[in-house]
Amino acid sequence: MKKPTVVPGPGGRSILSSLPPLSLYVHVPWCVRKCPYCDFNSHELNTEVPEQEYLAALQADLEQALPLIWGRQVISVFIGGGTPSLLSARAVDDMLAMLRACLNLLPDAEITMEANPGTVEAGRFLDYAASGVNRISLGIQSFDDRALKALGRIHDGAQARSAIEAAQAAVDRVNLDIMYALPGQTLEGCRSDLLQAMDYQTGHLSLYHLTLEPNTVFAKYPPVVPDDDLSAAMQDFITDTTAARGWERYEVSAYAQPGQRSRHNLNYWEFGDYLGIGPGAHGKLSFHDRIIRQAKIKNPTSWMQKAVRRDGSHLAEDRAVQWKELGFEFMLNALRLKEGVPRSSFIERTGQSILAIAPAIDSAISKGLLEPDKERLRATELGWRFLNDLQAEFLD
Ligand SMILES: C[S@@+](CC[C@H](N)C(=O)[O-])C[C@H]1O[C@@H](n2cnc3c(N)ncnc32)[C@H](O)[C@@H]1O
Ligand code: SF4
Repeated sequence: MKKPTVVPGPGGRSILSSLPPLSLYVHVPWCVRKCPYCDFNSHELNTEVPEQEYLAALQADLEQALPLIWGRQVISVFIGGGTPSLLSARAVDDMLAMLRACLNLLPDAEITMEANPGTVEAGRFLDYAASGVNRISLGIQSFDDRALKALGRIHDGAQARSAIEAAQAAVDRVNLDIMYALPGQTLEGCRSDLLQAMDYQTGHLSLYHLTLEPNTVFAKYPPVVPDDDLSAAMQDFITDTTAARGWERYEVSAYAQPGQRSRHNLNYWEFGDYLGIGPGAHGKLSFHDRIIRQAKIKNPTSWMQKAVRRDGSHLAEDRAVQWKELGFEFMLNALRLKEGVPRSSFIERTGQSILAIAPAIDSAISKGLLEPDKERLRATELGWRFLNDLQAEFLD
């Protein structure tokens, strides 16, 4: 592999000698019902999904971004939401055909689609797979009907189970999203959810501690959730049980069986590039002399109206990342990984010498938060447990 070098670029900036892998994120903003804990850009829909209008806007959004990624290969696609499984099989087929026509998509690209168990009838997943989806991420949350009700989910445990079976029949790679520290949940409830999830041997689990996010129904009317001691006991149980059964906790919330890590998410954490299309989608793109961040406007209707004007009015943000922000942004992502990243990737991905963050590295090592590893940038057990404190060391 070519060794990157740092050369001062225009205005004293460094330049990247090679570009990182590129992924694509597609945002589908609608849900049947808004869950009370959710702060994603997702909107309850009382009518049919406006598929034609959405796909036309998506294509216009992508085409306007193409000059930014000209000639580059795309290693993965993630169709997230919201609830992408609200789209008909036909719409997903049209979407993937459009993406293939516009992009240089690797033949074995990982193509993940998020699905809500309340929106999939048997057969739908087979159609998505026939169109090229090769990984399905299911929002299970829990198998317990009472917990699902408390979370305002549109499905019960039985529907969750049949969605997993349908997904496994359609694709080889399935992720299950499970949340813990749920309203009224006991350690036994958490244990039961985890054991059931692992028993499906899907290869990948995302296990999230329920957080009460600002501007959600749960922030306004907080449910009674497990206290810190109980939720810590749940995390300990999860850590021990997954490890004992051969699941690697390779990122703070991501657990994989061997060979099953998500390529798309790894690219985020390794500070790779991604283009985001759809309402509210974010992107980070590298050029030889700068790194830019983009965000699309969040409101689905305005985004659809503006994207097709093709005049850039669908952009909410479009700016070069400041030199001094880069070190923190890189570490914010890299430290989420259990194994961290090679030290050499700092210069590769930011164009800066590691000397730029040397004082923060020394300070974090002296506090026992970062491993004194000559090859890798990697959190210690303590640093991982207090990740916010470790990340804050790298704030300028
Ligand atoms: C976009 S959703 C997944 C797909 C689909 N919308 C669904 O919910 O079935 C992403 C995941 O983030 C997790 N999540 C969302 N809000 C959360 C919160 N406040 N705390 C913890 N996890 C959350 C859930 O596990 C959810 O499945
Ligand atoms: S279905 Fe998923 S995206 Fe939609 S509101 Fe619920 S958690 Fe959020």
